[in-house]
Amino acid sequence: MNRQKTVWVTGASSGLGLHTALALRDAGWTVIAGARSFAQAEEKEGIHQLPLDVTREESVQAFCDAALEISPWVDAVVQCAGMLVLGSCEETTVEEYQRVMNTNFLGMVRMNQQALPIMRAQKEGRIVMYSSINGLMGIPFQNAYTASKHAIEGYAEGLQMEVRPFGIQVALVEPGDHRSGSEKYRPHGAKMGPESPYAAAYDSATAKIHHDETHGSDPDRLGRKVARMLDRKWMPFRRRIASPDQHLAVYLHKFLPARWNEAILRAYYIK
Ligand SMILES: NC(=O)c1ccc[n+]([C@@H]2O[C@H](COP(=O)([O-])OP(=O)(O)OC[C@H]3O[C@@H](n4cnc5c(N)ncnc54)[C@H](OP(=O)(O)O)[C@@H]3O)[C@@H](O)[C@H]2O)c1
Repeated sequence: MNRQKTVWVTGASSGLGLHTALALRDAGWTVIAGARSFAQAEEKEGIHQLPLDVTREESVQAFCDAALEISPWVDAVVQCAGMLVLGSCEETTVEEYQRVMNTNFLGMVRMNQQALPIMRAQKEGRIVMYSSINGLMGIPFQNAYTASKHAIEGYAEGLQMEVRPFGIQVALVEPGDHRSGSEKYRPHGAKMGPESPYAAAYDSATAKIHHDETHGSDPDRLGRKVARMLDRKWMPFRRRIASPDQHLAVYLHKFLPARWNEAILRAYYIK
């Protein structure tokens, strides 16, 4: 293919989405980036920015219409938009669960439903969804997020089976902790406070979660790895990008009895 390839990147105003968009731009893609904080359509530093709220159908539709005016092709969609709410299973409100699922999981569903007809007509396309190590294993007090990432993992398997005959490849990126730099997408649940019966364990676990992320891997490297993955003829279905201890944690989770895993993870997160 001689023309410049086009990629849509969601959640590209900060963190891993921003680093991925920059790496794809550097790799020669036409990058059309979406996020809520892009107030208007403009081109900045070689990236086309468009407003996008993945929780709103009409915003997703408007993003896709505007993106198709910039470039009629959608060679790839890379979905990074995400958020989490920290809280115990018991005290995370149903509204908080819905907010996380609506952004992390249904946001991807909405984007895919727009992109798939275009990719089927093109007879090719790539859909890359940012899951997480938490899509493979649970940790305490990050439960709505963990549930949303598990949803993505199962959904992606079925999606790949359905769309392969149309020349469409699906891939999951499963990052471990990376320094995304923003705390604003990790609010404490409304009911979490000193009066919570889980307060001591919650404080311990959320301090650990915060420490691991702020000392996490380099998001620039992740962006470059994803750009290289998109350049391959055949993308791997799962691409885990994590530190060696996080790879080990996933491996142990798969092979150790559940009670052992629970004991290891409790000891790690809850002092
Ligand atoms: N950082 C990590 O260690 C890590 C580890 C595993 C997986 N991940 C995954 O990687 C992805 C990026 O995470 P991050 O930590 O790097 O990002 P982040 O800095 O927390 O940024 C989240 C991004 O999502 C966008 N976003 C949030 N809600 C949105 C909505 N309704 N519509 C459109 N965009 C929305 C935000 O932009 P606006 O506010 O401007 O809309 C922002 O660009 C997420 O899917 C996350 O689950 C991250």
